[in-house]
This record gives sequence, C-alpha cells and structure tokens, in this order.
Amino acid sequence: MKDIFPAALVKRIVKKTGTPVYIYSRHKILENLDAYKRSFSALKPLFCYAMKANSNGAVARLLAQNGAGADVVSGGELYRALRAGFDPRKIIFSGVGKTDGEMAAALRAGILFINVESFEELAALERVAARMKVKAEISVRINPDIDPHTHKFITTGKIGSKFGVAFKEARQLYAFARASRHLEPVGIHFHLGSQIDSPEPYAKALSVVAKFILLLRADGVTLKYLDIGGGWGVREGCDMLPPGILARTVGPLVRKLGLALILEPGRSLVAAAGALAVTTLYRKKSGPKNYVITDGAMNDLIRPAFYGAKHPVRPLVKRPGKARRYDIAGPVCESGDFLAQGVSLPMPSRGDILLILSAGAYGFSMSSQYNSRPRASEVLITGADSWRLIRERETTRDLTEKER
Ligand code: LLP
Repeated sequence: MKDIFPAALVKRIVKKTGTPVYIYSRHKILENLDAYKRSFSALKPLFCYAMKANSNGAVARLLAQNGAGADVVSGGELYRALRAGFDPRKIIFSGVGKTDGEMAAALRAGILFINVESFEELAALERVAARMKVKAEISVRINPDIDPHTHKFITTGKIGSKFGVAFKEARQLYAFARASRHLEPVGIHFHLGSQIDSPEPYAKALSVVAKFILLLRADGVTLKYLDIGGGWGVREGCDMLPPGILARTVGPLVRKLGLALILEPGRSLVAAAGALAVTTLYRKKSGPKNYVITDGAMNDLIRPAFYGAKHPVRPLVKRPGKARRYDIAGPVCESGDFLAQGVSLPMPSRGDILLILSAGAYGFSMSSQYNSRPRASEVLITGADSWRLIRERETTRDLTEKER
C-alpha cells in the first residue's frame, strides 16, 4: 500500500510549518469517496459529507468538487458548506437544537431538507417558514432503538438518547407536517452512532424503518428520500472498513422501498487521510512508566482522552535500540492529557517527529485553545511531492483577539 505520509515530504512540511500540524492527503480522501461511489454504484446515493468530522474549507471543497453533498449541524457548518461550494440542494441540516436563526438561514439557502428531531422543533420551523412565506422541506429523524455496539458517547439511535423521535411520535410529526401549508415531509432519517463496524445495525434499523414507511404511505405521506446517516467505521487507526459490505446489506432493502438513498459519512472519508505531526520535547520516567512529552496535546487531539481512542503512533525516524512502552503526553496540565498510551517504540530522540495517525476526522474540528494553546496549522498534501498550507497556525494574539 502506498505510504500517504512519506517521511521526506513530512520532514519538509514540518520544517516549514512547525508542529503540531495536521497533515491530510488529498489522494486518500478522494480514494475513500471513490470507494463509496463504487460500492454503491447500483443505488447512486447522495453522499452528504458530515462536515463536523473535518470542516476545513479545502477538505470540504475537495469533496464538493467531487460530487458530495454536506450534512451540517449548525449555522456555522452551513456557512462553511455554502462557502466550500456545496450545491444547496445537496445540503441537509441535522441536530437536536437548531435555533430560529439557523433554520431561517437554511431556508434562505434553499437546502434539500431539514432533519427534524422533536415536535417543538417542527412547530418552530413551521413558524419560521410561515414568516418567510416559504415551504420547509423536512425529514424526521427516527430513533429506531437499535444498539450500534460502539462507544456510549457516540451511540445515538437508542431510546433514552437525546436524538431523534420514536416511531409513534414520528407518525404524529409527519401528520402535522402534511397538514401544514408551510411544511412538506420529503424524507426519513436515522443515524445510529459512530465508528460502527458491522452492517447489521443498519439492516436492523432499515427493516423497522421500512415497516414505518409503509405505515406512512397508508397515512398518505409519500417520501422521496431515505437518509441512513453516517457512522461507518474505520479499523482501529487504519483505513475505512470496506463500504461494499454495507452496500450489499442495505442495497436490497433500500431498492424495495424505491426511495432515493442518502448517506452521511464523516469519519470514514477523512480519518485515515489525516495525521497529527508532533515533536518530541522531553523523555522522562515516572515509576514504571516511560513518557514522551510532545508539543502536541489533548487540546489538539482530544479523542484519546475523551473516548479512549487508540491512534497508532509512527516515528518519522526509526531509532535503533530496544522498543519500550511509552505514553505519549502533551504539555496540558491534566493527567488525562495523552495522545497515546503504552505504545511500543525505540526511544525517540529529542526533536524527533511522531505522526499520530488516523487523525483526519474529529481531530482539528474538536481542537480547542485550552491552556491558552493556539490551535495547530493544517496542511493538504496535493501530489507526490506537493502540499499547501490550508490553515495557518494560530498566534498568541489570536487567543485574546475577541476579548474586550
Ligand atoms: N450524521 C449525523 C447526524 C451525525 O451525528 C454524525 C456524527 C454523522 C452523520 C457522521 O458520523 P461518522 O460517519 O463520522 O461516524 N467526535 C466523535 C464522533 C462524533 C460523531 C457525531 N455524529 C469521535 O471523535 O469519535
């Protein structure tokens, strides 16, 4: 397999940008999108990229230029999606807490539909649409009560979570929308969770949702779109799981329903395409533990601390000597500040670059300035030997920019 982060190129990048820096591969992102397209070629779905995974304009533009749509969850993401050039008719808006202003912006932009998640939200949307004298196209996010067997923080399709509505209530939402002059039900949606490693939860959800769609038809509600959300996983720290098995499982069920299919992949498109490059500052021991302290920290990549996520670590230079177990930790003043734990490496030298892999999704987008650390820069590798800066490193001045 081709190395998407060749050491010589990474060295040159880091020399220019410094660290910590997020490095993404254009080639890998497109390869992932192509894998989806090929696997689903019989169904020709709309792939609405979940912007939250990585909302950098260059990454978003790349996906927009290659036919993807966007799944947005805030006014900010809507702004970014429009700016990146996504066709508004390929944008959908999800999330449990849209404000009137955000809904109005979505209606003004003429997006494909808004995924509604509660009765009160539907009523609020109707008022906004009435004020604007337009008809809002909606889809209801179903909570199908299916366990996707993933981390509890990223499980969304189980009853008891804040997401979606149960079938009984959803039926009332569709009836309300159908009766309204300012609402038009066009789709149905579910999103089960994230980092799902088997097609089985999708199949289970689809079979109950299919029954519900038939019930809606009997109620006189005919829909155009079936949006099965995102969530398709990546192998621990590596490539996306082959989307073919997902396509083969959901294909027959979707075809039977005759609705246009929408998917909302985030992580699977960009995770493996990104790495966080950090520099080794110090080595130290604490009792039985060996630490490598780097200039990258939990504010740059919070996934290990927050979800216990395991990101493979690759030293750019292979040092001789026996491998030992290291915790890779940052300068942030928290014991939970680590990028990896117990990784086996020969001792890196001070100044050595480490690549924290599979960091293209929910890496930069979840980063913060905690401990008053300016956010990292971002780079896109565009060819065998070419790259460009797609976000400048923040400066210390940026930290106080908005303070009055
Ligand atoms: N659609 C909806 C409505 C979502 O809530 C999400 C993710 C996606 C699509 C995309 O899911 P994906 O294909 O990326 O799994 N920060 C966490 C992941 C949170 C996912 C939230 N929702 C992490 O770093 O693992």
